[in-house]
Amino acid sequence: MHSLIRSALLFTAMATPCFAASDVVIADFEGESYSPWKATGEAFGSGPARGTLPGQMPVEGFKDKGLANSFHRGDDSAGTLESPEFRIERKFIGFLIGGGKNAEKLALQLLIDGKVVRSATGPNDRPGGSEALAQESWDVSEFAGKQAILRIIDDAKGGWGHINVDHIVQTDIKPKGYLSNAEREFTASTRYLNIPIKNGAPKRVVTLLVDGQPVVRNDIELADGAADWWAPMEVSAWQGKKLTLRVDKLHEDSKALAAIVPSDEFKEAADLYREPMRGQFHFSPMRGWNNDPNGMVFYNGEYHLFFQHNPYGWGWGNMHWGHAVSKDMVHWEELGDKLLPDEMGPMFSGGAVVDWKNTSGFGKDGKPPMVLFYTAAGNPTVQGLAYSTDGRNFTKYEGNPILKQITPGNRDPKVIWHEPTQRWVMVLYVEVEGVHTMQFFTSTNLKEWTFTSQTDHFFECPDFFELPVDGDESNKKWVLIGASSEYRIGSFDGKAFTPESPMIPGHRGKGFYAAQAFSDVPDGRRILMGWWQTETKGMAFNQSMSLPLELKLTKTGAGPRMTFAPVKELENLRAKEHRIPSFTLKPGDKNPLGEIQADLSEIRVSFEPGDANEIAFNIRGATVTYDARKQEVEVNGHRAPAPLRDGKQSLTIYSDRIGLEVFSDEGLCFVPVPFNADPGNRKLSLEAHGGTAKISSLEVHELRSAWPQK
Ligand code: FRU
Repeated sequence: MHSLIRSALLFTAMATPCFAASDVVIADFEGESYSPWKATGEAFGSGPARGTLPGQMPVEGFKDKGLANSFHRGDDSAGTLESPEFRIERKFIGFLIGGGKNAEKLALQLLIDGKVVRSATGPNDRPGGSEALAQESWDVSEFAGKQAILRIIDDAKGGWGHINVDHIVQTDIKPKGYLSNAEREFTASTRYLNIPIKNGAPKRVVTLLVDGQPVVRNDIELADGAADWWAPMEVSAWQGKKLTLRVDKLHEDSKALAAIVPSDEFKEAADLYREPMRGQFHFSPMRGWNNDPNGMVFYNGEYHLFFQHNPYGWGWGNMHWGHAVSKDMVHWEELGDKLLPDEMGPMFSGGAVVDWKNTSGFGKDGKPPMVLFYTAAGNPTVQGLAYSTDGRNFTKYEGNPILKQITPGNRDPKVIWHEPTQRWVMVLYVEVEGVHTMQFFTSTNLKEWTFTSQTDHFFECPDFFELPVDGDESNKKWVLIGASSEYRIGSFDGKAFTPESPMIPGHRGKGFYAAQAFSDVPDGRRILMGWWQTETKGMAFNQSMSLPLELKLTKTGAGPRMTFAPVKELENLRAKEHRIPSFTLKPGDKNPLGEIQADLSEIRVSFEPGDANEIAFNIRGATVTYDARKQEVEVNGHRAPAPLRDGKQSLTIYSDRIGLEVFSDEGLCFVPVPFNADPGNRKLSLEAHGGTAKISSLEVHELRSAWPQK
């Protein structure tokens, strides 16, 4: 019915000259069929699509319910749509168009006397992109009074081999459309340009040019109107120079470029680090998204934490290496992005070392260089390095890449010094014929690398280190760990890793990934931090890092196994202590933690369950339970084995606003679980269920924030 009314209206409008100034709808694709348009081939189907077709990314920006969508039977199908003849009677033809970009094979064409006089195609010519239709128009005043035909063609195959068209009108008022390469110029006189971000808005390609030369390119969800948050783009390196921000496509009405605020400060940062969902003793970037920890190294008296950073989005993308430093791995100062995407691609994960003997020659004035290894994830994906002699300024090596493409998947170089063979060793994740492997390379100068061996069935972000078993320096074992934190223990001769254990689970919780250990820690501890997938909706930042965790190897009945323990430096956060001496606890007893209200806490408890089934904590709404029957720890639904030892067990629990990290079974059981605590609930409780338990010791530490306080 809808379509009947619409064609009637259309007929009236076209046939009634007294409505000359009003728009004439040529096609709105609202009916069951394309009639009176004629379709050939399969691409457009038998009638207009009602939005997204099966297998297609969400199609948006079309008018009302239907549109011409040539994704029928996928990208490879071909076809045409042709309108009946009509008379050009307005100055413009406006239309909505989206899909693939291919001027010859994917187009909306205007034909007069059988000749194509105007043509338009979609915006997408690479993977990713968007199915959104956008307003475009042609000035057709020169053809006034002529008879014309519209034709939509799809003769394209493969990725983005389709076109979307809707709402074609004749009009005397130029429809507002999009500007290509819209620009705004600045003279760099402030530290930042604050960029307005709208989460979920179409990604625009934003290029920063310095004195006319493109320097970095990012895909940014620019806010055309009100911003969800502001992303500071640091421009201090180019003071006094001419900066241009160029946006590939911007609606004529967009306020995005005009809204950018040059400033020495972050915009809207009054509550920085005190935001309701900011982890208070876990690192997270001031703004934007983080994933993997990168380049972890102790250098010049500081721990360095680089990280996969999207400075301009709440989600993953635009990979930069963010940078933060700390004296104790607990209090971090974020210093800004150090490796920016370049012509070799975005900056993916990798590690760092101190080149004590200056084997690379990057050292200066007797100062050993810090050397970063990263993946440039362009096409092809390659490995590169960058160096620094002050821990602040980094230079990408002019001889990059240091390793060229081996297979389509190759990334995340982690480099270590191997003392016995006096060689550098790189472990690199490489996909070989569909198998996830770790490949080993060696080098004497960090620049030239020789392949030596391969170990299969490890995925992404390797780390590789030696640890003494139960502290015995004469009995050391090598640990190879992948991004999931599953690991194998074995031996290493400088060239090949020989596993001596099966694959062993690492963490037993959720959202802990791509962990990496610091290199060159002076006291020899092996301390690792993971990407903690703590989601913080509504905040101007997202995700975080786990606590720094000290790793050891301990003998078990099944062979040596890795233990995880929070580093002792975390004790610096203790603000107020509650110590409850040994007591028994049975169902119905008064809550021993009833007096405590804590935003942030560390709880240490040792107990004998006795005939109790469960020792159950509730921490700000999250459950941490020891299940004595199953001999398991449960953290908000995530369970992990922790067998009783002589009828006893213990738990260490760290609770931050974004989640809990629970340690049990002498560190063999590590359960990190992201959890957004309700800001209004600061209650803690402890109960015994099913019987009487003995609590041999209970300590609760209220913790202070690790962030700078105003
Ligand atoms: C792991 C990972 C790495 C890659 C990086 C990109 O989370 O996929 O393999 O280098 O993230 O951000």
